[in-house]
Amino acid sequence: MRGTGIATTSLIVHGGAGIFRTDLQDLVREGCIRAAELGQGLLLGGASALDVVERVVMALEDNPTFNSGTGSCANAQGEVEMDAIIVDGARGDFGAVAAIRHVKNPVRVARAVMEHTPHCMLMGRGASSFALERGFESTPTEELLGERGSGPDHGTVGAVALDAQGHVAAATSTGGTRDKLPGRVGDSPIIGCGAIAEDGLGGASATGDGEALMRVMMAGAVAGYLRAGRNAQEAADLALQDLKTRTGGLGGVICLDASGRIGFAHSTTHLALAYTHDRAEVVSRL
Ligand code: GLY
Repeated sequence: MRGTGIATTSLIVHGGAGIFRTDLQDLVREGCIRAAELGQGLLLGGASALDVVERVVMALEDNPTFNSGTGSCANAQGEVEMDAIIVDGARGDFGAVAAIRHVKNPVRVARAVMEHTPHCMLMGRGASSFALERGFESTPTEELLGERGSGPDHGTVGAVALDAQGHVAAATSTGGTRDKLPGRVGDSPIIGCGAIAEDGLGGASATGDGEALMRVMMAGAVAGYLRAGRNAQEAADLALQDLKTRTGGLGGVICLDASGRIGFAHSTTHLALAYTHDRAEVVSRL
C-alpha cells in the first residue's frame, strides 16, 4: 500500500536510520514489528492516534535494541540525555522534552508537558524536575544505558498513526548522538523537524543526523509537500532530496497522509520500519 490506497486506520513506526549491525538486525526488525502490532491492535480497538503513537513509542523506548529510553547512548560525560516529542494533529498541539535525564519514557513526559503545562517544551533540569513532580519514577543512568552499557548511536524511534476518527498523531524519541556535548539537542524534540502531525494533512517522524535534519526542518518539509498535493511517498522522497542536496546529511523519514497512505525514504544504508493499515498483516523493512 506504499504510496497508494486509502485506509481507515494506518500506522507506520521506525527504529532509526543508519547501518544496523548484522547480528542486531533480527532484534531491530522484531522490535519494529512488535511495536506496529501493538499499535494496530490499539487502533482496531478504537484507540486514538495520540494514545497509539505514545504507546508504540513507549514500547520502542523500553526495548534496549533502540537508542531511546532504555538503551540510549551516553554523552561525552557518560550521562544519558534524551529528547522526545508527541504531536496531536486533532488539537494542533504538541509537547516535547529536550536533554531530559533519569526518565524511562521521555515520550510520556512530553505528553504531560502538552497536557499539564501552558508550555510546549521543557528542557534539561527543568524537564527532569517536572517529570519527578508529575510522579514519573527516577531511573538511574546505568539502567538507561542498558545491558551493553550504552545503546547504539542510531536507533531513534518514531511513529505516525491515523485513527478511525480521522485524527493523525506522531511521536519521536531518541538518546541523541553518542559522545555529544552535554546539552546538545537534536531534531527529534523540535516541532517540524523531528515530527509533525495535522488532521486533514498527515504526519511525519524523522530520524538520522539531527543537525542536518534541523537545517531542512525535515518533518515540516514532508508536510509542505503534502500540502502542495503530493502523496505520502512523493512527499517523503522530495523531503529526502532536500536533505541530500542542501546538507548532504544522512537520515530518513516516515509519513502518512490524511487518507492513511504510507511513505518513507532514507539516505542511510538502513531505515528500520514497520507499517500496517486496518487489519492487514504488518510489513517490515530494514
Ligand atoms: N535524530 C536524532 C538526533 O540527532 O538526535
